Amino acid sequence: MKMRLRANFILAIVVNLWMVHTVASLSNIGISYGRHANSRFLLDNGVSRTPPMGWNSWNHFWCGINESVVMSTADALVSTGLASLGYKYVNLDDCWAESERDENGKLRGKASTFPSGIKALADYVHARGLKLGIYANAGELITSSMTIAIMMVQEIERDILLWATHCRKLNGQFTSLYVNGTTEFLQRNCIFLRGQEDPAKWAGAYGHSWRTTGDINDTFARSIAFHLCIHLHPNFMATIESFTFLLFFSVTWIADLNNRWGRYAGPGRWNDPDMLEVGNGGMTMDEYRSHFSIWSLMKDPLLIGCDLRSISNRTLRILGNKEVIEVNQDSLGVQGRKLRSKDGLEVWAGPLSDNRVVVVLWNRSELRDLITAHKYVSMNKRDRLTASVAPHACKMYVLTPLQS
Ligand SMILES: *[C@@H]1O[C@H](CO)[C@@H](O)[C@H](O)[C@H]1NC(C)=O
Ligand SMILES: *[C@@H]1O[C@H](CO)[C@@H](O)[C@H](O)[C@H]1NC(C)=O
Ligand SMILES: *[C@@H]1O[C@H](CO)[C@@H](O)[C@H](O)[C@H]1NC(C)=O
Ligand SMILES: *[C@@H]1O[C@H](CO)[C@@H](O)[C@H](O)[C@H]1NC(C)=O
Ligand SMILES: *[C@@H]1O[C@H](CO)[C@@H](O)[C@H](O)[C@H]1NC(C)=O
Repeated sequence: MKMRLRANFILAIVVNLWMVHTVASLSNIGISYGRHANSRFLLDNGVSRTPPMGWNSWNHFWCGINESVVMSTADALVSTGLASLGYKYVNLDDCWAESERDENGKLRGKASTFPSGIKALADYVHARGLKLGIYANAGELITSSMTIAIMMVQEIERDILLWATHCRKLNGQFTSLYVNGTTEFLQRNCIFLRGQEDPAKWAGAYGHSWRTTGDINDTFARSIAFHLCIHLHPNFMATIESFTFLLFFSVTWIADLNNRWGRYAGPGRWNDPDMLEVGNGGMTMDEYRSHFSIWSLMKDPLLIGCDLRSISNRTLRILGNKEVIEVNQDSLGVQGRKLRSKDGLEVWAGPLSDNRVVVVLWNRSELRDLITAHKYVSMNKRDRLTASVAPHACKMYVLTPLQS
């Protein structure tokens, strides 16, 4: 009797595994379309084979950065153990630069906030085994606060190359001009391209990661007012999403937008739904765990966006979860996708190396009143993989095939 039960159990797991694996593989890699899409990626140079990991100044500090914040953040990456888990990039976002060039027409760090200069900062960061990343805008128009207008890619390269920075976040918010100027040197580095016109479709030939959405906001779901608008105007979503770069997006919304581009991701080319908000205080711990888990499953860059100098132990446990990081850094590099969504209960999954599968059961139930409560999420009709998931929380499983 015992034996029989066990045999049934194993059979059910194998069937489950096969189903999830098939669905995940098909939906991610895509039989013909995926191959076609992937063949257009030219930038196969060994860089960024797994999604980049590190810290970026924007989500917490906005323009309030200076060299002491960046240096102590580099120290904190090391002392918290996050650096040894793979968080290697220390990325300066907007507002590091002086608005005018120096007498030789070159870019330079803001004298009031980076008095020692960017080269000294790079040396400091490198001495800790980390890499310095830097933000630039290649558009004709200024962006939020960066006042260097009309900056071309060649200039960016010439100037920041001097400081031996490793990672570029290139903003092409108001133009696609920069595409033509991108050079081989820039391609060899970790570049974040941002622009409209669906960068997932073309940016893989020029960089290793590209933004797929507008800016993230430290919030879980869209507001009730938003849902009301969607309800009243069927075209509301389509209209609003065409203004992606003018909006702030919640975690659930951004996850869905990024999910559309799953088939374009792979080793060396990653969709970027914007940096992590974990630890910034706008969401609950369960919501931050979901945020981190889904970003990891989608093979998104893991760029911490909180103040690491005062990180809480609870936040550290989320960002430092080794098993979840391993899912993100898996060598297969296939973006996991949403497979099923019903009444706010969602199943996300994707294939991993060694025929393993990662599954996330996510309870989004944004509008408690409008959904019928479900007790279980199940992978198939037999209800074999079931879980009770707290509101806005998720559970992640890595399924490993049984050895024969
Ligand atoms: C550096 O920035 C931090 C965070 O914005 C701020 O608290 C601190 O006072 C600044 N330090 C200097 C010297 O400006
Ligand atoms: C790149 O340059 C070519 C020729 O100079 C031009 O036709 C094309 O529109 C440019 N592409 C972009 C994306 O600006
Ligand atoms: C953005 O997040 C903050 C903090 O959670 C919240 O107060 C604000 O309402 C959110 N804004 C939008 C547009 O969702
Ligand atoms: C955080 O964890 C460290 C190491 O386990 C411990 O020494 C410290 O007291 C904890 N801090 C808080 C606020 O619980
Ligand atoms: C999801 O959260 C809702 C409350 O928002 C709860 O009623 C439901 O039971 C939860 N679902 C699962 C599968 O635990």
